[in-house]
Amino acid sequence: MPVVGVLLWATLLTLGWRAAHAKDHGFGFATPRVQLSFKELKATGTAHFFNFLLNSSDYRILLKDEDHDRMYVGSKDYVLSLDLHDINREPLIIHWPASQQRIEECILSGKNSNGECGNFIRLIQPWNRTHLYVCGTGAYNPICAFINRGRKAQDYIFYLEPDKLESGKGKCSYDPKVDTVSALINEELYAGVYIDFMGTDAAIFRTMGKQTAMRTDQYNSRWLNDPAFVRAQLIPDSSERNDDKLYFFFREKSADAPLSPGVYSRIGRICLNDDGGHCCLVNKWSTFLKARLVCSVPGPDGIETHFDELQDVFIQQTQDTKNPVIYAVFSASGSVFKGSAVCVYSMADIRMVFNGPFAHKEGPNYQWMPYTGKMPYPRPGTCPGGTFTPSMKSTKDYPDEVINFMRAHPLMYHAVYPTHRQPLVVRTNVNYRFTTVAVDQVDAADGRYEVLFLGTDRGTVQKVIVLPRDDMETEELMLEEIEVFKVRAGLSSTLCQQQLYVSSAVGVTHLALHRCDVYGEACADCCLARDPYCAWDGSACTRYSASSKRAGVQRHITLCPWHTPAANKNAVEAVQYGVEGSTAFLECQPRSPQASVKWLLQKDNSDRRKELRVEGRVLRTEQGLLLRALQLADSGLYSCTATENNFKHTVTKVQLRVLSSRAVHAVLVQAEAPPGLPGAPTPRYQDLLQLLTQPEMGLLDQYCQGYWRHTAASPPQPLAGLKAKEQQDQKKPRNRRNHQPETYGHT
Ligand SMILES: *[C@@H]1O[C@H](CO)[C@@H](O)[C@H](O)[C@H]1NC(C)=O
Ligand SMILES: *[C@@H]1O[C@H](CO)[C@@H](O)[C@H](O)[C@H]1NC(C)=O
Repeated sequence: MPVVGVLLWATLLTLGWRAAHAKDHGFGFATPRVQLSFKELKATGTAHFFNFLLNSSDYRILLKDEDHDRMYVGSKDYVLSLDLHDINREPLIIHWPASQQRIEECILSGKNSNGECGNFIRLIQPWNRTHLYVCGTGAYNPICAFINRGRKAQDYIFYLEPDKLESGKGKCSYDPKVDTVSALINEELYAGVYIDFMGTDAAIFRTMGKQTAMRTDQYNSRWLNDPAFVRAQLIPDSSERNDDKLYFFFREKSADAPLSPGVYSRIGRICLNDDGGHCCLVNKWSTFLKARLVCSVPGPDGIETHFDELQDVFIQQTQDTKNPVIYAVFSASGSVFKGSAVCVYSMADIRMVFNGPFAHKEGPNYQWMPYTGKMPYPRPGTCPGGTFTPSMKSTKDYPDEVINFMRAHPLMYHAVYPTHRQPLVVRTNVNYRFTTVAVDQVDAADGRYEVLFLGTDRGTVQKVIVLPRDDMETEELMLEEIEVFKVRAGLSSTLCQQQLYVSSAVGVTHLALHRCDVYGEACADCCLARDPYCAWDGSACTRYSASSKRAGVQRHITLCPWHTPAANKNAVEAVQYGVEGSTAFLECQPRSPQASVKWLLQKDNSDRRKELRVEGRVLRTEQGLLLRALQLADSGLYSCTATENNFKHTVTKVQLRVLSSRAVHAVLVQAEAPPGLPGAPTPRYQDLLQLLTQPEMGLLDQYCQGYWRHTAASPPQPLAGLKAKEQQDQKKPRNRRNHQPETYGHT
């Protein structure tokens, strides 16, 4: 039986697969620290799938109602009211299909190629304290209705008011493939829709309520050119209500093709109290303006590469309701360049563009120029009765020249650029794209973090934080990528009460924002994960919250030991023995697949540390270093360093002592003598005894223990007991990226 340092070769063969997953830290790539399949996610118990078997699909609309603790969901033929805390607890379900007659008419008109002749719910808005307003495509004949949801959740009321069905024209698109965006403000519905059966007439519409119905100029491609609406959001401009503006986020065909990209992303806005013009633009917006939203990266040739197709927008409210932060997800789908990006915009930048020059073009063959002629008063786009126009109560009072100017100049000359002029997150050359974004703010001991949850069209959610690196540089860290749906599907998402709700073509799921124990069971794993939701509490990686903070709770990377140079000294030195001619395995397994590993060797104390050359008898595996056909000269201090996100630390230091085969043979003969015999064992026997009890525990853990001994905070538990547990746990695989060999050496 081999005594020391022999790796089972079968184990080695299984190590190869990870090496095949070459890490690429190049621009636009990102490796999640933890990747969970649908099954693995389910096993964590942190995801709850709505599991009522409805004959439905296309779960698209999510509306949270924190007063009632409900989440409303719209899908094909169904409106659901789910418990925010447990989506499978007594869901309230309304089945609302289109009438049989309507479905038959729809099929006859040739529209059912992909089952479009259903009632796809596309709008759910709160109407008053007791009622919701909902609209569906109604088998290509949009319909709307009121839903009674009761005064409070305990009423357990949820039904369609049967005598209050209304036409959905101008409120909901006919085609379920076309998104509808809406905002219900003061009992008036503002909607970005296609208002005809053929899907050629797109408009921003105002209906219901006491003011006149309004729309964008019809078939005027300068205003809207085949738009795809993404979101509508009221953002006040000042404390004066008359200044209130509704912003629309959309993408549209470029009117300048083929010289420009086929699609532009836009931010547009209207005044809520717009009454249209008097002479012209009657019942049409007289305050509609739009600007380009830019999200781009400099290409290798210095030419900007644009992500032109806006996919989703998340509005992060701040203390100041006038200045929310706007997160937008874009994709690029050109033939040469594929990718997605997240850009962030400030309202200050957006307002600056709307207050800047208007885009002007003399004729079809001219370039866009900033308009430099005389500006009419009040400045086009100003809301009536607001801060600057207190005496003009209605846009009908505006001079004709203002209205005429508006009709011809809906576009601003300057584009809106993202904060720092660059995206926050970029993905290129990946076979998926982002479809949705939600952002949570996490208060950590070392500051506030923004955590991005990015849904992809392959049914996964990526959890990403962005850390500042240098002055302007930031560094992205993908904490996890989880497979929420087994199918490739675009996702919608919303955040509510520390839960993420995600919907797709096939269903709805709610997810916890954190799965701390998945990072591993060691302090080092927890720290290096840098998940602002998680902290090491002395025995496990658990949910951190500012209120549960107590002495000794380790918090985030800034409190982790290894970003200081001193940290390298903390690595515990282990002694390992090898026998001349046999094989030794030096374990070095940083928890993170994101780390890159280097081995250094110091032959004796006087020698300098040199990088070890991996060749010949020396073999590197994902788990460590394999030294074959050991020679006496291989003795020395081996250190394994891991570099991750600029944080370099020593994972392991192993003092390898190679014993001559002759000496070992002699000792073995002694060792086989019955115990209890008189005569002290030789020093070499002591060595071997030590070797046999040398724990196989991961040295990362030792390192962590070393950290606790070095910090002023005293560890909350006696280390000895902890250690024993960790030794056992160390043998269990923790996640699929980190299967460890069950057996090697020392047996
Ligand atoms: C499910 O819905 C489809 C169309 O909406 C219908 O053809 C099918 O019969 C329904 N199945 C069941 C089990 O109700
Ligand atoms: C809410 O609106 C519905 C529909 O118009 C109406 O029937 C109901 O009485 C209203 N409820 C309240 C509390 O105003």
